[in-house]
Amino acid sequence: MAITKHIDTVLQHAGTAPFNPETGTAPVPLPPMRASTVRFENLAALEKAQRTKAAGGRATTYGRMGMDTHAALEQVFAQLEGGTHAYLASSGMAAMTMVMLALCSAGDHALISDCVYGPMRELDDAVLKRMNISVTYFAAGEDLDALVQPNTTLLYVESPGSLLFEMLDMGAMAAVAQRHGLVLATDNTWGSGYIYRPLTLGAQVSVIAGTKYVGGHSDLMLGAVVTHDEAIAKKLNRTQYAMGYSISADDAWLALRGVRTMPIRMAQHARHALQVCEFFKHRPETVRLFHPAWPEDPGHALWQRDCTGSNGMLSIELRLSPAAARVFVDELELFGIGFSWGGYESLVQLVSPKDLAHHRYWGEGENALVRLHIGLESPQDIIADLTQALEKAAAVKG
Ligand SMILES: Cc1ncc(COP(=O)(O)O)c(C=O)c1O
Repeated sequence: MAITKHIDTVLQHAGTAPFNPETGTAPVPLPPMRASTVRFENLAALEKAQRTKAAGGRATTYGRMGMDTHAALEQVFAQLEGGTHAYLASSGMAAMTMVMLALCSAGDHALISDCVYGPMRELDDAVLKRMNISVTYFAAGEDLDALVQPNTTLLYVESPGSLLFEMLDMGAMAAVAQRHGLVLATDNTWGSGYIYRPLTLGAQVSVIAGTKYVGGHSDLMLGAVVTHDEAIAKKLNRTQYAMGYSISADDAWLALRGVRTMPIRMAQHARHALQVCEFFKHRPETVRLFHPAWPEDPGHALWQRDCTGSNGMLSIELRLSPAAARVFVDELELFGIGFSWGGYESLVQLVSPKDLAHHRYWGEGENALVRLHIGLESPQDIIADLTQALEKAAAVKG
């Protein structure tokens, strides 16, 4: 009898190397299979691969489409998200462009949540506008039915949001999409298919920046688009091929290696992040904490309903002058100042008011907003570091 495997088990057995039929031996992990050129045993093999590809299936006809290492990683993404097809791209941002180019045509209109990863707006300004694809940004809780236009085809969201981690009601979004015949696509980098699975809540497309928790070691760039919808898969497949999206075998291999430990890393990030929330709760500088697993976060009920875990991301609104906030960030010793997250290390970002201006969830806040990624370091050390930096910030006049 076949056993139904938990995703933790699936991740340990994905990308296992096949035995050499002559020696009966094999390394445990599949090696990175680097290739630009694929050889076919005969023309019949070539034609078979071409037929599979033309039917929308996975076929290795050329290195750009990836070899066995890539195929194993695609399968991992599909299994994480509960999808049937996964398409790799060279970064999370490239995965976002794949979705927009595959699913929108000239004259179309897309509804996008105002809490999406910031560079989506750059994609909009630099590319989508030139292609006559228009975008309306909406806030969490806004009446979407009223924003749908006759040419709206796509509802693109990110939950929790990129800077303030506001939870969107994925089921309610799916109902809107269904009512108006829209595709619901979501950036699921936060959940990475492990703690949040939008495809099981009504979304048709999920985008993951594998650069973050899947890779987990701050040493690779990777994106993936996952779907369980055959018609959408065909569009993604053609667009991925036509646009030349491709990743190196070494990055695919690093991602396969990284993803096996995602369950334990994610759980530890989440535990430490809650300890840091508890610390900030008692600090006089704290105005508000943004972390959906924190019971006082307004999105906590949705998080409890839709997620099975959390991660190391949180933001804090701090009653600090701009100068004091800079001192706080600069004085942190264990936190790197940087834009990414999902690696083993702690990171800090002083969010600029310009980036917050788009977020209606932020309102008119005048205080500093600091986004933290809580890494795998000892939480006591992290809290000691935050304490000493806050004390130095408190000494800043004004
Ligand atoms: C939520 C989210 N989506 C997408 C991306 C883009 O991923 P990448 O940096 O791999 O292009 C990022 C990167 O920070 C992100 O935070």
